[in-house]
Amino acid sequence: MLRSLVLTSSLILGLASSCSAGLLGHNVNYRRSIPHDGQYIDVNSGNNATEWWWVQAGGPAEDGGAPPSLHVTFYQGYPLTPLRDAAGGPNAPEFYIVLNGAFPNGTVFAYTLPATSSSVTNAGEAVTGTWAGAGVFHNSADLSTFTVALNAPELGVTGTLEIQSNGPAHFGCNTTASPYFGSAIPAGAELNAAEEIFYKQLGWATSQPGGPARVDVTLSGSRLQFTGQGYHDANWMPQPIDAFMDDWYFFDAQVGPFDLSAVYAAITDTTRVFNTGFLEESGSILQNQCSVQGSRNEDKISITPYGLAVDEAFHMNVMQGFILEYTLKNGDVYSFNLTGQSLVLDQPIYHRWVGSAVGGKVGGKQYTGVAMYDWLNPSLTPYNP
Ligand SMILES: *[C@@H]1O[C@H](CO)[C@@H](O)[C@H](O)[C@H]1NC(C)=O
Ligand SMILES: *[C@@H]1O[C@H](CO)[C@@H](O)[C@H](O)[C@H]1NC(C)=O
Ligand SMILES: *[C@@H]1O[C@H](CO)[C@@H](O)[C@H](O)[C@H]1NC(C)=O
Ligand SMILES: *[C@@H]1O[C@H](CO)[C@@H](O)[C@H](O)[C@H]1NC(C)=O
Repeated sequence: MLRSLVLTSSLILGLASSCSAGLLGHNVNYRRSIPHDGQYIDVNSGNNATEWWWVQAGGPAEDGGAPPSLHVTFYQGYPLTPLRDAAGGPNAPEFYIVLNGAFPNGTVFAYTLPATSSSVTNAGEAVTGTWAGAGVFHNSADLSTFTVALNAPELGVTGTLEIQSNGPAHFGCNTTASPYFGSAIPAGAELNAAEEIFYKQLGWATSQPGGPARVDVTLSGSRLQFTGQGYHDANWMPQPIDAFMDDWYFFDAQVGPFDLSAVYAAITDTTRVFNTGFLEESGSILQNQCSVQGSRNEDKISITPYGLAVDEAFHMNVMQGFILEYTLKNGDVYSFNLTGQSLVLDQPIYHRWVGSAVGGKVGGKQYTGVAMYDWLNPSLTPYNP
């Protein structure tokens, strides 16, 4: 049955119901990592761990067209169990690259490029990922440049994506010491099994929070070429998201001198909702925090959806956009309005939009830019007509 989004004032995106899968989970080996990128855990056919390297670039829509975009995820394992099942269950490829995006005329595309192996290695602080038969990525030692080369001509995919970062590498919380969310755990709180995984074992490292991007790829004979704004991070967890989370939103926008991102996470079987807020202006961090929603009066973010719309493909309610309001430690407020224009990934449990963002300091100069955001919602029962 279709379940609609429940909106309340305190739990703005709360979705009910849990999906408790086995919360076993300590069966992965943690590796010594390069700060902000590199291989963090071992992912193999004997565990349900997943680790991915995510890179995306989007450009502004021109002349009544759609915003062009390219999103490339180098996967080890599966972020959601239904995606593993759809890819063949126990026979699903362990290593693969997923491409999504849209041409400037609004036509969306999706490709999955299976790889025969994957390796992520480092030379000093420089990181190279090789997905054999599909593509490679490279992060420069100073984290200034992230490049992707796709090479799967037999599947119709070749080309490159490059980001020149103009923002500071960072973790989700206000620390240089840990890529985990543990500092958000309220004092004295007892965590449930899902929260144990979420706060202590879900890793997130952003090496390129924003910067000019250049895309030049050929997809089934059509060339997609644009310049825009890019983003890259790395993520890892011992279990797929559906084992411990009901909802996960990730927002990314670049607006004038600002790079911003935010996470909203509804963890399974708890009323504690988690978020992060990252905002930097011209290379200086204004906010980089993680917290339980509602636990603070400043150094916080509020994420407010607006505009119910229908995803016709699945008869699902979705939101037209979001207001991200950052309240800094000193009380200054910055607000950004993110609107989805193209739905570039459209699955019942996984949506992604590209669109525009408008905002800046409240009462100050307002800027316009590009927004990209994702919604993973494993708790929502898919609609089967
Ligand atoms: C992986 O997940 C499946 C399905 O949830 C479960 O049956 C299996 O026991 C899990 N394996 C490990 C090693 O956690
Ligand atoms: C922590 O946040 C402050 C702003 O509140 C910022 O200046 C500082 O760079 C941040 N540190 C880290 C490690 O993110
Ligand atoms: C949009 O552009 C792509 C790439 O050139 C092309 O394959 C597709 O057919 C176009 N779609 C429409 C509706 O014209
Ligand atoms: C956000 O942008 C949308 C689309 O442009 C607009 O309809 C809405 O009124 C804006 N909301 C705010 C609070 O500015």
